[in-house]
Amino acid sequence: MHNFNYYNPVRVLFGKGQIKELANLIPAKTKVLLAYGGGSIKSNGVYQQVIDSLSEHQVIEFSGIEANPDYDTLMKAVEICRTEKIELILSVGGGSIIDGCKFIALAAHYQGDPWEILTKPDYKADKAIALGVVQTLPATGSEMNSGAVISRRAIGAKQAFGNPLVFPQFAILDPETTYTLPTRQLQNGIIDPFIHVTEQYLTTNVNSSIQDGFAEAVLKTLIEVGSEIVNGTQDYDIRANWMWVATNALNGIIGIGVDHDWATHMIGHELTAAYGLDHGQSLAIIAPQLWRHQKEYKTEKLLQFAHNVWGLENNHPDVAIKQGIIKTEEFFHSLGVKTKFSDYEITVDIQKITDNVFKYNPSNLGENKNIDAKAVAEILAMAE
Ligand code: NZQ
Ligand code: ZN
Repeated sequence: MHNFNYYNPVRVLFGKGQIKELANLIPAKTKVLLAYGGGSIKSNGVYQQVIDSLSEHQVIEFSGIEANPDYDTLMKAVEICRTEKIELILSVGGGSIIDGCKFIALAAHYQGDPWEILTKPDYKADKAIALGVVQTLPATGSEMNSGAVISRRAIGAKQAFGNPLVFPQFAILDPETTYTLPTRQLQNGIIDPFIHVTEQYLTTNVNSSIQDGFAEAVLKTLIEVGSEIVNGTQDYDIRANWMWVATNALNGIIGIGVDHDWATHMIGHELTAAYGLDHGQSLAIIAPQLWRHQKEYKTEKLLQFAHNVWGLENNHPDVAIKQGIIKTEEFFHSLGVKTKFSDYEITVDIQKITDNVFKYNPSNLGENKNIDAKAVAEILAMAE
């Protein structure tokens, strides 16, 4: 296991009825920017619960943050934060709202051009507005990490950043807020955490028993609840297990002391920017082909995955690895999620996507730094 320095300051309030705790979490009179998306929180009652809990606070609303939050929209909120001297941003919604709020929180205090936060690895920031989260879509893990992904449609870009200053102070996870999610978001909410795990687990064997065991438990839980979730179950316990498992897939705990890949995500972000595929859909297309392409470097962990997650220990190792990948694709298909570009009627522009992957980050991808432009092009071709 590699050395690590683990830090996660997010207070998590989990369970039904927890939204009313906002009144205790945020000191009275605090100037709050209440940020949300296109209105799902108004139709499912979450907005009213939040407003009822903030009766002692000064609340300014900012709505209309889109799925795959857009830089230009977020910059309008940055202006509001600066002129209104906002003290806490409350994100109410899914990962896009949380990510957008992380960017707003950092950009509001940033001295230079905020685009640098997303494109200049050595940008310097020393302050961010405090952030709180009411999570309504289990998928990204953003509620308990310090990363964010921001789109800039005007130039066709989708870029990630991470900064410990934007860890939420608290995150409220009430599984009952998820009852109104449409099927497509339920599907994304299984695929995204699944791939978050594999980006950290299907890498190198570094004798990390705890992390591997935890990663396998997360994957098995996703497999266990997947079909019920996608079928829209209103069973509280299933929703609760789903919500907590999605958080654990990317709150840092399974990723400490191990090698990380993230190439599937880097390629996936460009596919979302170019073709509007949902984040989860882009991952379902790329991951299986990337594992096939990188099989010889990921052999040990792919075999462990086949054995411990898919129960294929009686097969010859080569067969088990192949079968493990096929089982994963079959699982995705069973959720109604397609795994090829042709299924989405997309003719992928391999050269353009490959160029975009390396535009702001010219180094090779993957835990072995061996996924270069040629490899990305091959993986994209395999997914046609
Ligand atoms: O805008 P509203 O009206 O709220 O509707 C949203 C949106 O249309 C809807 N929704 C959310 N909660 C709902 C609901 N509808 C009904 N009932 C509810 N309870 O769902 C739609 C999608 O929401 P969005 O926030 O975009 O989805 P998700 O949570 O999957 O977030 C995706 C974004 O997160 C980024 C992705 O790249 C993408 O931009 N990621 C962030 C990560 C992170 N910060 O750690 C890691 C991930 O790998 C990912 O890249
Ligand atoms: Zn993801």
